[in-house]
Amino acid sequence: MYHNDQWAQQVVSWEYSSAATPDLHEVPIQPFPASLYEQGETRVIALDLSAELETPYLATAPNLLANYIRICAGEQITTSVTATSEVYFVLRGSGRTETADGVITWQQGDAFTLPCNSGVTHYADDESALYWSHDAPLLQYMGVAPVRPMFSPAFYSKAYMCSEVEKLREIAIRENRNRVGIILGNNACTKTKTMTHTMWSLFNLLPAGAVQKPHRHQSVALDLAVFSGPDTYTLIGKKVDPEGNIIHPVKAMWATGSVFVTPPGWWHSHHNESDQDAYVFPVQDAGLHTYMRTLDIQFIR
Ligand SMILES: [Fe+2]
Repeated sequence: MYHNDQWAQQVVSWEYSSAATPDLHEVPIQPFPASLYEQGETRVIALDLSAELETPYLATAPNLLANYIRICAGEQITTSVTATSEVYFVLRGSGRTETADGVITWQQGDAFTLPCNSGVTHYADDESALYWSHDAPLLQYMGVAPVRPMFSPAFYSKAYMCSEVEKLREIAIRENRNRVGIILGNNACTKTKTMTHTMWSLFNLLPAGAVQKPHRHQSVALDLAVFSGPDTYTLIGKKVDPEGNIIHPVKAMWATGSVFVTPPGWWHSHHNESDQDAYVFPVQDAGLHTYMRTLDIQFIR
């Protein structure tokens, strides 16, 4: 009548010291070129690393899935996902998005966020593309669905982001700061200072000729190169030497409108050897890490 024997069949255990760090596959450093969304029909293109991560659901990182959305001129596409947070950045074109919370218009360089989306439709005036990231893999891992929105949607215009960064340019360069950027926020997430309660983004200027020294954090970064000239790149590696240089780095080139993955915990530095300013828009699960007190961001001074 009792089920002790049946439940006991589920039990397994491991010797502590050999099992304390299970052998999970690492998040790969992976580029996703703009050519993925430059041609063809209106569609969503998942930046999928589920095979590398061994997840049964689409994922770019354990907690996040990034996608490109291509929308041909005059066409539309509906996106719906079981997620608590979505971050969109307009890669090209112009159009509008109709949501339960109202309609917004957008053009290249704008960004917006949505909570708890049960279906929105994007309409393109011109040939358009969106960079779309969300935390559906985290919810898939937990086997849950959101029951309420945790923030109100927000719209970040290109003009707003560029003007805020321009205000910082002079002082940041003069003081040799590690970043010339703004962390994007939402009134519902002022404690964590993040874009949503789980997700984080930065609009970061890498001036012509600049180097932004190495740093690392436990959040993953799905880095969108918003605009870049030639010879602009990120060096990524597991360790730094005593002088603060990344040991045996992998070089991820910045190419306008393309994305690359910076794995959690890896050191990374940004380098612009061109004569053109460059901008990056990293999307991270740093809202979650900040809340958990596990972000552990460290900088080489
Ligand atoms: Fe970073």
